[in-house]
Amino acid sequence: MKTILVVGGAGYIGSQMVKQLLATGNYHVVTLDNLSHGYRDAIIGGDFVLGDLADRTGLDHLLADYQFDGIIHFASFIEVGESMQQPGKYYQNNVAGTLNLLDAIISHGAPPIIFSSTAAIFGEPQYTPIDEQHPTQPINPYGKTKWMIEHILADYGRAHQLKFTCLRYFNAAGADPEGQLGERHQPETHLIPLVLQAASGRRSHLTIFGQDYDTPDGTGIRDYIHVYDLCQAHLLALEQLWQGADSTAYNLGNGTGFSVKQVIETANLVTGNTIPIVMGTRRKGDPARLVADSTHAKLKLNWQPQYADLTTIITHAWQWEQQLIR
Ligand code: UD1
Repeated sequence: MKTILVVGGAGYIGSQMVKQLLATGNYHVVTLDNLSHGYRDAIIGGDFVLGDLADRTGLDHLLADYQFDGIIHFASFIEVGESMQQPGKYYQNNVAGTLNLLDAIISHGAPPIIFSSTAAIFGEPQYTPIDEQHPTQPINPYGKTKWMIEHILADYGRAHQLKFTCLRYFNAAGADPEGQLGERHQPETHLIPLVLQAASGRRSHLTIFGQDYDTPDGTGIRDYIHVYDLCQAHLLALEQLWQGADSTAYNLGNGTGFSVKQVIETANLVTGNTIPIVMGTRRKGDPARLVADSTHAKLKLNWQPQYADLTTIITHAWQWEQQLIR
């Protein structure tokens, strides 16, 4: 049985990853999380270690205690707006924290690592859909932290024979198809959970951030990818590294963009409610359209998304929202 460390395994995507790893029956899973944004009750099995990436000694103890065969690293701050106000917080946690992790990893046998990157490394798109060759010019500190870590990984890979895969998520969405896990961000800033909170009455309305974009209905277009499919890609990427593949990066999305208005219309149908909306102004740093070209992941990882349909993504997120309000 292989042993895998999931860093940030108490969070939205990390906890789903732990569940899917355990479901295979093939892995011993250890979660490291500082619980600053994650939830202890979201870790449904395996071992749990409370710890922070700032604690290099703690990381060394953890890596000495277990012989990890692979690491999946989700832990980071993710709010674009906050990163503009408090860049230091992002560079400290995301970049310096990851450096500590990488230094600990290379001094304990350098097991391969899967890194959660983001479409935000591309900045304002020069063309869509966005493939792996698209220039990277992040426009906010959050995106820059992920971009820097991709470069740091490349240098560590060359110098220390560390194998890695960077997965650039487009818009992670949906919830555990079995209804056990889902998004619980504090504060919530993502479109789909906010729309569903407005549908359930937890929120008075949803504000549409701008309707003057150069898109068919004027609202921003994003590529929503189901959290389950995202996690499957992590497992495939890790297996590929174990089989001797070279380090690389993959863009992960469904290749179809949906506007804010299309998301709201779909949510109206799924929930049977009419979601109250307010027209607002553009949010700083939001590009008009972000859509992934995931051909590379489909070909090289044999990745086949199971829940690509927006209605399914929103249906699973709605199941989860209804559990939260119960
Ligand atoms: C952003 C980042 C992404 C990051 C993610 C993590 C960019 C371009 N994208 O995704 O890399 O991983 O955050 O948190 O920086 N919207 C509204 N009203 C709302 C909320 C959102 O109209 O109340 C709109 C946004 O303007 C956007 C779309 O909905 O067009 C999706 O927004 P959101 O869910 O916040 O994700 P991104 O900003 O795309």
